[in-house]
Amino acid sequence: MIGFDLEKRIFKLDTENTSYIFGVEDDFGYLIHYYYGPKLEGNGVSYLAGTEGNRPSQRLREKSSFLDCTPMEYPSAGAGDLRETAFEIETVEGYNTSEFGYVNHTIYKGKKKLPDLPATFGEESECESLDVVVEDKLLKLKLTLTYSVFEGLDAIVRSVKVTNEDPEKYVYITKIMSTSLDVENDDYSTLTLHGTWARERRIEYRKIGHGSQGIASIRGESSAQESPFIALTSKDISQTGGEVYAFSFVYSGNFLANAFLDQFNRVRVTMGINPYHFRWKLNPGESFTAPEVVSVYSNRGLGHMTRTFHDLYRRHLIRSAYKDKKRPILLNNWEATYFKFNTEKLLDIAKEAAKLGIEMLVMDDGWFGKRNDDNSSLGDWYVNEEKLPGGLKPLVDGVNALGLKFGIWMEPEMVCPDSDLYRAHPDWAIQVPGRKACLARNQLVLDLTRDEVKNYILDSVRRILKSANIEYLKWDMNRPLSDLASLGLPADRQGELLHRYMLAVYSMQEALVNEFPKLLIENCSSGGARFDAGMLYYSPQIWTSDNADAIERLRIQEGTALVFPLSTMGAHVSDCPNHAVGRVTPFDTRGNVALAGTFGYELDVTKIPEADRNMIPEQCATYHKYNDLVREGDYYRLASFSENNLYDAWMVKAKDDSEILVTYVDVTRQANCKDRRLKLQGIDPARTYRDEETGREYAGDVLMYAGIPMEQFWGDYHSKLIHLVSVN
Ligand code: GLA
Repeated sequence: MIGFDLEKRIFKLDTENTSYIFGVEDDFGYLIHYYYGPKLEGNGVSYLAGTEGNRPSQRLREKSSFLDCTPMEYPSAGAGDLRETAFEIETVEGYNTSEFGYVNHTIYKGKKKLPDLPATFGEESECESLDVVVEDKLLKLKLTLTYSVFEGLDAIVRSVKVTNEDPEKYVYITKIMSTSLDVENDDYSTLTLHGTWARERRIEYRKIGHGSQGIASIRGESSAQESPFIALTSKDISQTGGEVYAFSFVYSGNFLANAFLDQFNRVRVTMGINPYHFRWKLNPGESFTAPEVVSVYSNRGLGHMTRTFHDLYRRHLIRSAYKDKKRPILLNNWEATYFKFNTEKLLDIAKEAAKLGIEMLVMDDGWFGKRNDDNSSLGDWYVNEEKLPGGLKPLVDGVNALGLKFGIWMEPEMVCPDSDLYRAHPDWAIQVPGRKACLARNQLVLDLTRDEVKNYILDSVRRILKSANIEYLKWDMNRPLSDLASLGLPADRQGELLHRYMLAVYSMQEALVNEFPKLLIENCSSGGARFDAGMLYYSPQIWTSDNADAIERLRIQEGTALVFPLSTMGAHVSDCPNHAVGRVTPFDTRGNVALAGTFGYELDVTKIPEADRNMIPEQCATYHKYNDLVREGDYYRLASFSENNLYDAWMVKAKDDSEILVTYVDVTRQANCKDRRLKLQGIDPARTYRDEETGREYAGDVLMYAGIPMEQFWGDYHSKLIHLVSVN
């Protein structure tokens, strides 16, 4: 899959349907990018770079135009490439110029681990990697550019390591993007996922203009505002056609995703850790590894891109014991009780839940310290025995005795000023000495970069998890980082705080993954503010949004599923009127929408209308019937309520083509409308499918090109599942 043409000094990385080609320039050893697109047989594309007759040795007086015009594989700052760069340093002397030339490379089966970072992985039989080493001889600085390709998947994964080989001088890294790609503009737009709390990951297109444009987070988390994903899309993009270059960052902190359109109509996409407040001191002999970026090219539309990300993340990123398993149907008490609960109340809910087919009770916020609202106690991970007399054990044993598993909520990264922990260690919070730190939800962020803080908190989590039979942990994180300062770092390392913070969170979750291998972890951040590929390395699912309204969820889940597998999307049925928007939707529609994710409940089963409660056993049975398919199948987006303002539809097809589940939500009723037809996608025309409900049989090509009629319901917000089973 990865080859090196010794004579032409050209690297060629082939995936199932794409080729990625770059080479070594003869004079200085610059790495020049030649091509990324549909698969090519050969590698005869170096003429595209415009380097012939234009190399520095041929036109030294115009070296600057060579550096500023040539598509570069990994551009560094200062030496003449005056576009957006991928790499910048500051030397001891205060200089910023670096210039890298080829040294050597290695091609090998499999993929190495990235130190302390989440990353994709694969066996030697599943993937192949390339390390290319380039060097700035003056600075004695080496970069290792690593690329991996995976069997059967159109994805290329890149990361970068920098090593300081100077025996005496340190150097600061001030910018280190994990990927950089130069492509000819073809009237591209950027596609990104914009949002806010309770309105995460809405699809947004913007036509590219000259200069820089892109998205970023400087919140210390990947954020609800922008997701670490960017794509270039052609004008004719659709689910089934058009061209897309997509990039997803396997990282959960500050990021930058930028598209720079230059004077010669070439776009340079860069993605990596945001240089905002980033300055990493690299001492002699030290290395720094930047997290990885996954890129996917598709000329078969967004659908192929989506399914590539889904397969890559399901097979080569998620590690949990639950990776390929049904998750227990949970009931979370947050919207059911908020902070007002006790053992008795939770057992009442559990008793009713057990009768209905629910399999786990999750106790959310409010069980510790003096936490009766969101003003106090984060950091005091001691059971509030006024609410839970005797501690966790009697409650958990009681829940287990009813046949349910038990899960718990924690927010380990935070501390409230009104807490015993803060009173004992006010300096443990991230804050600038002498300045009153900005509160959010009445809380501050703990400085996890300090070992004593991290160990104390990790021990608190361990103690709680071991104190009873706890089988699920919701790890929450409810405010962005501000007032950046760490008492554990010297002045010249304050710019390392944000990345070190992420490394600390990763190391804590890594410890839990290893020490509690059977524990199901669900990450969360004020809903879906840290829904990214980085967190998926530690937890197979992430709470998608605090907005569980079935209709709002259509958009949120459409945007999320553009990149992330359905199996990762925390999705619950909640009570109505909905707590985020006040809407009332039918209970079965709430269920059908939640079935596209992990599935669970977020309501008080003892209080909801009887008619709704009576539907739960059937909903649970439906989950069991379809979850293997939903979790492991191929997802196709058929219609988008965000685009048509009327209805939404998606389907999941089994990998072996044996069955298809279509979900259709008729959002708003239109008067006097003709039949609406839904055309399915990706079906083998040689197959015939039977609609399980009606018994009608459809040929595969009929399903795709003629479509199936969709009922238009009386009233709003109705929905339907259609199960098609292959008969041949
Ligand atoms: C966040 C989460 C919610 C809930 C609350 C508890 O907002 O997203 O699901 O856990 O915190 O305070």
